[in-house]
Amino acid sequence: MERSLVLIKPDAVQRGLAGEIISRLEKKGLKIVAMKMLHMDKNLAQRHYAIHKGKAFFDDLVNFITSSPVIAIVFQGKNAVEIIRQMMGETDPAKAYRGTIRGDFGIDIGHNLVHGSDSLENASKEIDLFFSAEEIFNYERELDTWIY
Ligand code: RTP
Ligand code: MG
Repeated sequence: MERSLVLIKPDAVQRGLAGEIISRLEKKGLKIVAMKMLHMDKNLAQRHYAIHKGKAFFDDLVNFITSSPVIAIVFQGKNAVEIIRQMMGETDPAKAYRGTIRGDFGIDIGHNLVHGSDSLENASKEIDLFFSAEEIFNYERELDTWIY
């Protein structure tokens, strides 16, 4: 089963959308295997978004993601990485389809509510940045026999 790192970004926490976003992903059938609230510092933000270092929006991105607490979650499920990206919608909420998290709740590219890993390789790196092995749970859910 795949794992993906999801961040409920500062705008979503501030706007009271954390429950809505977590609920959508849970109802899809994805399993929460780790979760914590944290206020990201510059160092963690720069490591998490290292791929964007040097781009014009990098400083704004780091300032935004460190401006207020986030909720970090590891979701597990078949094709979790791609499913979550689809459910998030396009990076720019103005272009994201209705029915996606960004398409339904966002307007501005700098305030797009949610992060989801964009590949299995990055998922593994990002999960290691936010969680220790002991913070990730292995457990069975009865309802998974009705999802798979
Ligand atoms: P994320 O990493 O946050 O899940 O978003 P993403 O994969 O959909 O987008 P990515 O290309 O990784 O960009 C990271 C974040 O940078 C901001 N951004 N601003 N002004 C711009 O042109 C621009 N491009 C990207 C967005 O807030 C995006 O979530
Ligand atoms: Mg990205």
